[in-house]
This record gives sequence, C-alpha cells and structure tokens, in this order.
Amino acid sequence: MEEADTLKLLEELRIKAERCTKCPLSATRKKVVFGEGGVRLRVMMIGEAPGREEDAQGKPFVGRAGKLLDEILHNLGVGRENIYITNVVKCRPPGNRPPRRSEVEACEEYLLGQFSAIKPRLVMLLGGIALKAILGEHYSITYIRGRHIVKEGVVFLPTLHPASALYNPKNRELIEEDIRKFKALLDELNQ
Ligand code: URA
Ligand code: SF4
Repeated sequence: MEEADTLKLLEELRIKAERCTKCPLSATRKKVVFGEGGVRLRVMMIGEAPGREEDAQGKPFVGRAGKLLDEILHNLGVGRENIYITNVVKCRPPGNRPPRRSEVEACEEYLLGQFSAIKPRLVMLLGGIALKAILGEHYSITYIRGRHIVKEGVVFLPTLHPASALYNPKNRELIEEDIRKFKALLDELNQ
C-alpha cells in the first residue's frame, strides 16, 4: 500500500474514533487519543491508555512517561517521528485505572484498523496491558520482556511500561536494553 493510502485510511478511522461512544470511557474523556507518527518504516509502539496529559492534548505519550520514553529514544538514536505510537484504548480511563477487558474489546476495531492500514513489521508493546491485549492473557511482562515473538509475520517486542521507570532506575535500564534490541531488529528489517 502506498503511504498516502495508509494515511488516508488512518484519517478516516481517526474521524470515526473521535465520535466514538462504543464504551463508557467516551463519557469521561476530554479528547480521543487516536495515535500519531510516521508510517513509512511500518513500525509501531503500543501503550496502555491515555493519561491526564494525553487526554488534554489528544496525543499519545506526551505526559511524564512519554517524556521519559522520548529521552530514552533520543539517547539511543531512535527517532520517535518514524514510529507510529498509539494505545490499546483510545480514551482515558478515569483516574488512570487499567482499562477493562470490555473496553479493550470495544476499542479493538481501531487498533485492528491501524494494523491493517500500517501493516507493521515491528511492534513494540509498552507494558503488560498491551502485551496481554495483543498477544494473549497468558503472557507475563516480567518474563517475556526483551524477547521478541513473531506472529503472522510481525515481530512483537514487549517491554516494561515507561511509567514503571519514572521512579525505578532498574526498570529504566531494562527498557533501555529493550529499545536497543528494538533498534537492532529495525536495522535488520531495513537491510
Ligand atoms: N501511558 C500510556 O500507556 N499511554 C500514553 O499515551 C501515555 C501514558
Ligand atoms: Fe470508543 Fe475506544 Fe473511546 Fe471506548 S475507548 S469510546 S471504544 S474510542
């Protein structure tokens, strides 16, 4: 698919999501956080759900966890602008509670639409909620992080959620290690 066609599909889906009332999170959100970023490399990062700052701005990973993620990506020489970043659910759960299974299921059509528009080759899963929602409930983030899984031709790489590194330097080191691996996988795909 041409890049322009991908962008057109994403734009159509964004318009639909912005009016979505399929789950109760629509009642408390300020803005739908659909996702953003470059699609040319066909690389995605998927987090859990928007937080307060994301809800206010309508953009993914712009709060404190996002700033930390930006810093790690920048230090390791990975350009955030080349990655399409989104979340499992597009609206903020009140008080940042984890999204419910019913909300993840209601919102799945948007993530699946993003997948079929972008056709990602490499997907980094940020945290246990994204891991379980996408690869299955039986996975544990602490055991599987840093190890890639190939499913239907797509390389998935789970890591800890960046928020878990805000006060935990050990977790930050683990995320850095995984993002180094992400970069190596990306270089391999681009060869
Ligand atoms: N945490 C997430 O999982 N997603 C965001 O967009 C921001 C914080
Ligand atoms: Fe719709 Fe997803 Fe928002 Fe629920 S979280 S209202 S399904 S866009």
